[in-house]
Amino acid sequence: MASSQLTERALPAERAVEYEPDAARLGLAELPDRDLGIDELRDLVASIACDPDTWTHLVAFDDEERVYAALHRDAHVDVWLLCWTPVNDTGWHDHDISSGAVAVVAGELVENNLTLGDGAVETRIGAGHAFSFGPEHIHRLNGAVPGSVSVHAYSPPLRRMGQYAVSDAGVLRRMSLSSSDELRPLD
Ligand SMILES: [Fe+2]
Repeated sequence: MASSQLTERALPAERAVEYEPDAARLGLAELPDRDLGIDELRDLVASIACDPDTWTHLVAFDDEERVYAALHRDAHVDVWLLCWTPVNDTGWHDHDISSGAVAVVAGELVENNLTLGDGAVETRIGAGHAFSFGPEHIHRLNGAVPGSVSVHAYSPPLRRMGQYAVSDAGVLRRMSLSSSDELRPLD
């Protein structure tokens, strides 16, 4: 891991950028034949966020099971639409070897990051903003308000994830999950 990733003080969600509908950026039709960097992932989710014809018919909400739909998958990147209610909660997780990006297209998301000294640090990401992160990133996402929708991309494509739980003895544990398993808080 680059030392800059360990010394960076601003959280990825604090560096979220406002995206403009008419900005030129990386779209699905221009993907390179290689894994994407985190700036490219952020450009990709912003591009898809600005093209609602590709995802608006998939929007639905469910408190019991978070609604998600695959928008694209190839050898280097996968893209998902996620629909959130305030009840939906990923729990603490990582993305194994994948970098990722999130563009919020409606409502607002809450990202929490875990610190050993101060517990959870909360950042809110409103509609029209996008952020990205490397494989070192551990977070927890919730919908902040009803009707929140976001576009997510991962490169290399998400195959496994780490889901975190605290044992009865207070020890943090990581469980390896398949990307087909739903992230949710572990007791
Ligand atoms: Fe995540």
